[in-house]
Amino acid sequence: MSKFFKITGITLGVVLLVAICFALYVNIDGIPNYKPGNINMKVEVTPERVAKGQKIASMLCIECHKNSDGVLTGKYLDELPKEFGVINSKNITNDPEIGIGSWTDGELYYLLRTGIAKDGHYIPPYMVKFPLAADEDIKSVIAFLRSNEKCVQANGEEPIASSPSFLVKMLSHIAWKPLPLSEKEIPMPDTNNVVAHGKYLFTAMYGCFMCHSKDFKTMNVLEPEKSEGFCGGGNHMQDKEGKEVITANVTFDETGIAKYTEDEFVQVVKFGKKRNGEMVRYPMFPHSQLTDVEVKAMFAYLKTIPKIKNQIKM
Ligand code: HEC
Ligand code: HEC
Repeated sequence: MSKFFKITGITLGVVLLVAICFALYVNIDGIPNYKPGNINMKVEVTPERVAKGQKIASMLCIECHKNSDGVLTGKYLDELPKEFGVINSKNITNDPEIGIGSWTDGELYYLLRTGIAKDGHYIPPYMVKFPLAADEDIKSVIAFLRSNEKCVQANGEEPIASSPSFLVKMLSHIAWKPLPLSEKEIPMPDTNNVVAHGKYLFTAMYGCFMCHSKDFKTMNVLEPEKSEGFCGGGNHMQDKEGKEVITANVTFDETGIAKYTEDEFVQVVKFGKKRNGEMVRYPMFPHSQLTDVEVKAMFAYLKTIPKIKNQIKM
């Protein structure tokens, strides 16, 4: 018996030692680096692409990267969970040293698809990535970043360095990984197919499903419809004061948005006004830059997905 305890004790000791060594290693190593991409791409900056890219960025990039003057020199991300440590976004103006002026289009493209930056450092999931978006939409975002728009003109304001917590470092070693690069070019959806168009916008482009499915931990970024509780809501989030906000069930179940008419849906998605007259709470925000056609396409798509019974306590 004592021999048994001795062996168990030694085994536990070894396991503990390995765990401690791994934790120390993770803490020193920080967020891992990967092989940087090597994509040869030149994005032509056309007025159409800049306009499209600006529209996308206004909903998906600018809030996180703008300083108090609206210039994209980076800022402290107050709304992230405090357990992540101090996370600041970066300067993505065209400044060649502090910003992304010296990045190639291929490097930007690779980052936006996979999460791996020019120097190989990995950007955790708190920044959006686009593994499924159409090449043309990503090129539009790049064209916008390269444009003459005031908010991206070279500006050497240094962003404050982040200090991610041990949790972020650990998750970046064991759970969070770069996203795979699609081997084929991804085409734009056929906008004549309303449901396919809506699906593209809701999943691949604007990532609505991420907040609106059960939990970030079980969402499936590469096959959104396989996320647990797809669009059934219940994801626990926080408003700007740190108060809990639970995401809405946006399936067409009675406990979801079954009563919404198409026009009411446009009102809530574009202007934040819910059917019951209340305004949506942060982190849902009005997507006023979307066209009615786009929002109606999402409405048509949501009608086709399985209903989920999940009464959210608001
Ligand atoms: C939720 C906040 C958030 C959103 C939304 C966001 N970013 Fe970021 N971004 C970050 C953070 C934080 C970093 C720095 C991460 C790091 O290096 O640790 C970053 C880094 C970057 C970098 C790398 C800069 C460098 O010097 O390493 C680029 C380029 C970038 N973002 C572009 C974009 C674009 C384009 C969009 C919209 C499509 C976007 N970001 C949306 C938070 C965000
Ligand atoms: C950052 C997370 C987040 C994103 C991204 C997001 N939502 Fe929401 N959404 C929420 C939350 C949280 C609520 C609930 C707000 C409340 O209760 O006041 C909500 C509410 C809604 C509602 C109202 C439902 C009701 O019961 O009245 C609709 C419709 C909706 N979102 C659709 C969308 C669409 C479409 C998109 C993408 C264009 C989207 N959401 C993106 C978090 C998000």
